[in-house]
Amino acid sequence: VKVDPFDLVVFGGTGDLAYRKLYPALFRRFLDEQLTQPTRIFSVSRQPVETDVFRATVAKSLQDISGFERAQIDAAKDFLSMIEYVAVDGNGEAGWDDLKTQLGDDPDRVRAFYLATSPDLFGPIATRLSAHGLVTPQARIIVEKPLGKDGVSAARINDAIGAVFAEDRIYRIDHYLGKETVQNLMVLRFANALFEPLWNAAHIDHVQITVAESLGVEGRAAYYNTAGALRDMVQNHLLQLLCLIAMEPPSALDADAMRDEKLKVLRALRPIDEQNIASLTVRGQYRAGSAHGSAVPGYLDELGQHTSMTETFVALKAEVLNWRWAGVPFYLRTGKRLASRVSEIVVAFRPIPHSVFGASVGAIAANRLVLRLQPDEGVKLWLMIKDPGPGGMRLQHVPLDMTFAEAFHMRNPDAYERLLLDVVRGNQTLFMRRDEVEAAWRWIDPILDAWRNSGEAPKSYTAGTWGPSASIALIERDGRTWLEESN
Ligand code: BG6
Repeated sequence: VKVDPFDLVVFGGTGDLAYRKLYPALFRRFLDEQLTQPTRIFSVSRQPVETDVFRATVAKSLQDISGFERAQIDAAKDFLSMIEYVAVDGNGEAGWDDLKTQLGDDPDRVRAFYLATSPDLFGPIATRLSAHGLVTPQARIIVEKPLGKDGVSAARINDAIGAVFAEDRIYRIDHYLGKETVQNLMVLRFANALFEPLWNAAHIDHVQITVAESLGVEGRAAYYNTAGALRDMVQNHLLQLLCLIAMEPPSALDADAMRDEKLKVLRALRPIDEQNIASLTVRGQYRAGSAHGSAVPGYLDELGQHTSMTETFVALKAEVLNWRWAGVPFYLRTGKRLASRVSEIVVAFRPIPHSVFGASVGAIAANRLVLRLQPDEGVKLWLMIKDPGPGGMRLQHVPLDMTFAEAFHMRNPDAYERLLLDVVRGNQTLFMRRDEVEAAWRWIDPILDAWRNSGEAPKSYTAGTWGPSASIALIERDGRTWLEESN
C-alpha cells in the first residue's frame, strides 16, 4: 500500500544507524513502490557536505553495507534524488533557518524528525525544532533507544521532548517490536485458540529469552562502555519481548490497549536489588577468543583500556508477580561475542504428569514452543511422536517446523521498514509509551545500583562461548538448562 508523500528529517544523518538501517529500509520500500513522489529525505548533520557528494555516499553504502546490487542502485536515481543534505548544528543555532526554508510550511504534509543521535541531544534538538517554528500540525518525532541512562535521565529527556510534542506525536523506537517473528508472537497468541488456555503457570514451566550476538562492540566501544548490555539490550529489547509473552490479551490491537497491558507486566516484575542480586543476575565481559574460526581480541583491547566495569553479557532470572505467572521464571540472557548469532524465545511447557509408556521408550521430553527471531525466522513446536517404523514403541522429540523462508519464499523485511512507515501512517502500536519506558527503568535502576555497590567486576568469558559459567549455574540451580536450539 502506497503512503502519501512525506518529509523525513534524519538528525545523525551521517551516522552508523542511518547508513546501516534507515537508508536501506527506505530504499527497500522505494523499490517496493510504496514511497510516492515527492517524498523527501533530509539528512542532517553538523559538517557541511554537498548533497551530490552525500547522495553518492549513500549509494555506496547501500551497495557496500547493505548488499544491494549496483544495477538496483543505478536504476533508482529517483530514490537518491529524494535525499537532500542539510548542515544543522543540533546543539547550536547554525543551519536551522536553512532547514526551515527547505522544508517549507505545508501544514497537511507529514513531517517526521528522526533523532538518530546520542540521547543527550534529544532534548536540545526538540527545543530548537520548536524555537525555529519547525513543528507543523503534522509533525512527529522519532527517538532511538537508549532513552537516557537511568530513570532520572529518561524522565528529563521525556520532559524536554514532551514540552514540544504531544505523547501521540512521539515515537520511541524499539526495533525489536518491528521484527516479523515478534509480531507473529501476537498473532500466534491471539489468533489461535490453542495456546491461550495453556499460557499460564499451570502449564508453562519457564520461559527463556536469548538474544546472542557473535559480533563484538565493533566501532561503538565509546558508546557501549557507558551503556553495557543491561542498558543496551535488556532495558528495552528483552523486556519488550518478555512483555509480549506475559501480557494479558489487549481488547484490540490499538496502541494504547497494547501498551496498557505491557505496562502492567513491567510493573509486576519482581524487584531485583542488593538482597537478591547475586542469586538472580550474572554479568560478564569477554576476553580474547575466537569468532567464526578466527582469533578476536577481548573487550578491553577493543576499548583500548586496561579496565572497565562494563558488562558485555547479562543473564538474569525475572519473575512476573501476578496470578497468571506466579512461580514461572523468565530467564533472560544477552551478550556480545557469544558462540553464535541467535535470538529466540523458548516457552517450555510442564512435563506430562504420568507416563503410560514405561522406561524402555526413552525419556519423554516436555513440549516447547520456540520462536526464532533470527537468523532463519520461524516457529517450532516440539512434540513427542512415535519413532516411525517397526522397531516397537520408541518415542522421539521432534519439531513441527515453520521456517518462514521455506514456508513463504519471501524476503523478511527489516524491522525499520515497517516502523518508519508506521510513523508516517501515525500508528504507535509498535512504539513505546513514556510510562512504559520509565517503568522499565524503574526495574533496571536498582540492578545497576546493586552491581555498582557490590564493587564486583563482571565475570570474564572467552569470546565465542556462551558466556561465563555462572550463567549456566544460574539456571542449573533451578534444575533447568539453557536450550540452544541452534546447536
Ligand atoms: C541495538 C543495540 O539496539 O540492537 C546493539 O544497540 C545490538 O548493540 C542491536 O547489536 C541488535 O539488533 P539486531 O536487530 O541486529 O538483533
